[in-house]
Amino acid sequence: MRILAIETSCDDTGAAVVLNGRKILSNVVCSQIAVHQKYGGVVPELASRKHIEAIVPIVTEALERAGGALQEIDGIAVTQGPGLAGSLLVGLSFAKSLAFVTGAPFVGVNHIEAHLSAIFLEERPPRFPFIGLVVSGGHTSLFRVDGFGKYRRLGQTRDDAAGEAFDKVAKLLGLGYPGGPIIDQLSMTGNSKAIRFPRASLGKDSFDFSFSGVKTAVVNFVKAHPEPAGGFREGMIQDIVSSFQEAVVDVLVKKTFQAARHQDLKRVVVSGGVAANRLLRQRMEEEASEQKIRVHIPSPAFCTDNAAMVGVVGYEYLKRGIRSDFSLNAFSNLPL
Ligand code: KG4
Ligand code: ZN
Repeated sequence: MRILAIETSCDDTGAAVVLNGRKILSNVVCSQIAVHQKYGGVVPELASRKHIEAIVPIVTEALERAGGALQEIDGIAVTQGPGLAGSLLVGLSFAKSLAFVTGAPFVGVNHIEAHLSAIFLEERPPRFPFIGLVVSGGHTSLFRVDGFGKYRRLGQTRDDAAGEAFDKVAKLLGLGYPGGPIIDQLSMTGNSKAIRFPRASLGKDSFDFSFSGVKTAVVNFVKAHPEPAGGFREGMIQDIVSSFQEAVVDVLVKKTFQAARHQDLKRVVVSGGVAANRLLRQRMEEEASEQKIRVHIPSPAFCTDNAAMVGVVGYEYLKRGIRSDFSLNAFSNLPL
């Protein structure tokens, strides 16, 4: 079954053709970073306008690279939410139009479920059940995953998502957007033990997260150490971001493995944009081998927003005959 998948939930226009929910025939992503960079974050109105410009060329390219015509597509999968309403609507309306003209069945996909399913694009995907951590710019949630469509949320962030905290700290320090990859890179040469930033545990049995405290601690640290005329001492910025990253990663790793022990599961999946982070990947692997648990993390290109992961979920639903009708709407807060 050839699925054409479309993803426009935030600031990446993505289209992919995926065979039987596993094999990528094409996966095209058009990033809008250059558009939003100068504002230090995503400007929703600009994002939807850029999706409108990009959607036809990106879908055309995905079909061309897959070496097939639109008529050879057996189904269409599209992100329905959560995300920015205006952005979601572009992909959704386009997918509906394609479904209408081709007669192919289509299905709306939850973006968080797509992130959790990106791991099935890899060589050796996990068996169910597993603990799934989704850690991105919009979400930080822990799930028990018993199958496609079978999710139990164990915890989520009470304030900022982890990626949002990376982006805000980078903005505060004038490092650019998006902050995650920049902090990841700068931290390589920083001392992660230089500053002890707080880790919010929210109680022994809680699988919830909170990252606004660590973000505020960085703000307060910077205020208490005003930049001298010549700028921070050499290496100071690196030490700040590296210590911040260490605090965030610490909490993510600790809570994920706590959840695995609590649910008595031996498999963990880490997904979403922040799962591209080098320190997080390394710490997850280290902790997994210590605890005799298997950790599965998609390659970085499948961690950040892409349409191929939408194709994985779309296939699972369409093959079971589950499809959407033309009344399907976009929901910015669609729950999983
Ligand atoms: O999954 P994603 O592409 O979009 C959302 O669904 O939010 O995630 C984007 C987020 C941004 O906050 C970005 O800063 C963060 O993922 N990110 C990273 C890294 N690469 C992307 N955070 C930390 N380290 C990275 N290497
Ligand atoms: Zn995402």
